[in-house]
Amino acid sequence: MHFAVLIFASVATMTTFALDNGLMRTPPMGWLAWERFRCDIDCTNDPKNCISENLFIDMADRLYEDGWKELGYVYVNIDDCWASMDRDKDGRLQADPNRFPGGINKLARYMHDRGLKLGIYGDMGTHTCGGYPGTTVDKIDIDAQTFADWEVDMLKLDGCYSNAVEQELGYPLMSKALNATGRPIGYSCSWPAYQGGLPPKVNYTQLGQICNLWRNYGDIQDSWSSVLSIADWFFENQDILAPAAGPGRWNDPDMLVIGDFGLSMEQSRSQMALWAIMAAPLFMSNDLRTISSGARSILQNKMIISINQDPLGIQGRRILKEKSGIEVFWRPLSNNASALVFFSRRNDMPYRYQTSLSKLNYTTGSYKVTDVYTDQTDVLKDSTEFVVSVNPTEYTCNPVEVFLLTCCLRTVRTF
Ligand SMILES: *[C@@H]1O[C@H](CO)[C@@H](O)[C@H](O)[C@H]1NC(C)=O
Ligand SMILES: *[C@@H]1O[C@H](CO)[C@@H](O)[C@H](O)[C@H]1NC(C)=O
Ligand SMILES: *[C@@H]1O[C@H](CO)[C@@H](O)[C@H](O)[C@H]1NC(C)=O
Ligand SMILES: *[C@@H]1O[C@H](CO)[C@@H](O)[C@H](O)[C@H]1NC(C)=O
Repeated sequence: MHFAVLIFASVATMTTFALDNGLMRTPPMGWLAWERFRCDIDCTNDPKNCISENLFIDMADRLYEDGWKELGYVYVNIDDCWASMDRDKDGRLQADPNRFPGGINKLARYMHDRGLKLGIYGDMGTHTCGGYPGTTVDKIDIDAQTFADWEVDMLKLDGCYSNAVEQELGYPLMSKALNATGRPIGYSCSWPAYQGGLPPKVNYTQLGQICNLWRNYGDIQDSWSSVLSIADWFFENQDILAPAAGPGRWNDPDMLVIGDFGLSMEQSRSQMALWAIMAAPLFMSNDLRTISSGARSILQNKMIISINQDPLGIQGRRILKEKSGIEVFWRPLSNNASALVFFSRRNDMPYRYQTSLSKLNYTTGSYKVTDVYTDQTDVLKDSTEFVVSVNPTEYTCNPVEVFLLTCCLRTVRTF
């Protein structure tokens, strides 16, 4: 269903106004607990899966030993339900002592010893979404300092239990407070998701100045309909969202659910391809201890990752929506390369979509094309008509193709 092409593209000089902490010049990659493990705090009956020190250590071991870290998946991120219900006597947040006996600082050290990073979760409001202590405006400085003292590398700041006025005050203040700690801490803001994700309520210029990434839209769930509804919203609003992204500042369509229960292999390839085109952060939320080899090979596909991580950091767009149900997505990449994804909304059978690079507005020349999911390469002239067999999304058989092209045979890209 997709066919990503790595191609020639003229590249405009970009002015960036990113948060000045030097972090996340390409979309961050790693693992995040929420979608797969939620708020499971029952360590008595479910010790392997409950939100505890052991879960994050298990995932860190898998990232470190199973080839994920080398590909860029370095963040191990805690989500909600890690905290004790009470702050300590000095007013600081503290981890639940039974589930995190070593404290967050010990986990951070465990990550750093392995070249990994630790992310934590907080909430701009009276409570987190799961009902744990939140960070009200008066608690911002102390919480930022606590996270820095623990040597945390990233903060996701949710927005439950606060109003628009408190959010407008709190999100920029947390950015300042993190900076004031002197520790580089990647900052993920859920703010726009609480304000509908669109201007005039959301100011993307400001977000790019205070946050490294931000959740624009609702939470992802373990289903294709959820993945598709998120992708649809992002591409329907691409004229607003794409210019907001760049090195150090990313739109976040939420976690990768590849390797869980809801997606077929084909749909898994689709999520990976669309997230790569969107320059989305790649946070897996799955069980790396038991992941299938099929899901792993999609998540570890070097070419897809290199598209996602392209240093220009330009977010791709949907360029065609055919009546036939075929859609084409495009992302310009560095070194005159680009990626194309062919996507089908059909539910009958593989559709033979005929096109040429010139029909997709590529300039005259020969292009080296690589199918990202099969590694097959070909050379196409801009005028050559070719057929992409795009499988229907709902099929579980074989509906994805991804290609990569380089321009003119002069700029063959190596991966
Ligand atoms: C804090 O902000 C200043 C100015 O924007 C920047 O130079 C510095 O690197 C930042 N420090 C951290 C730790 O984020
Ligand atoms: C958005 O934020 C930027 C940077 O903070 C500011 O200069 C601009 O005036 C804001 N735009 C609107 C419409 O409020
Ligand atoms: C990209 O293409 C342009 C126009 O063909 C060419 O001048 C330039 O050298 C190419 N850049 C690279 C990095 O290959
Ligand atoms: C190609 O360019 C033309 C003229 O600018 C535009 O109307 C058309 O939508 C473009 N097609 C694609 C697939 O981008």
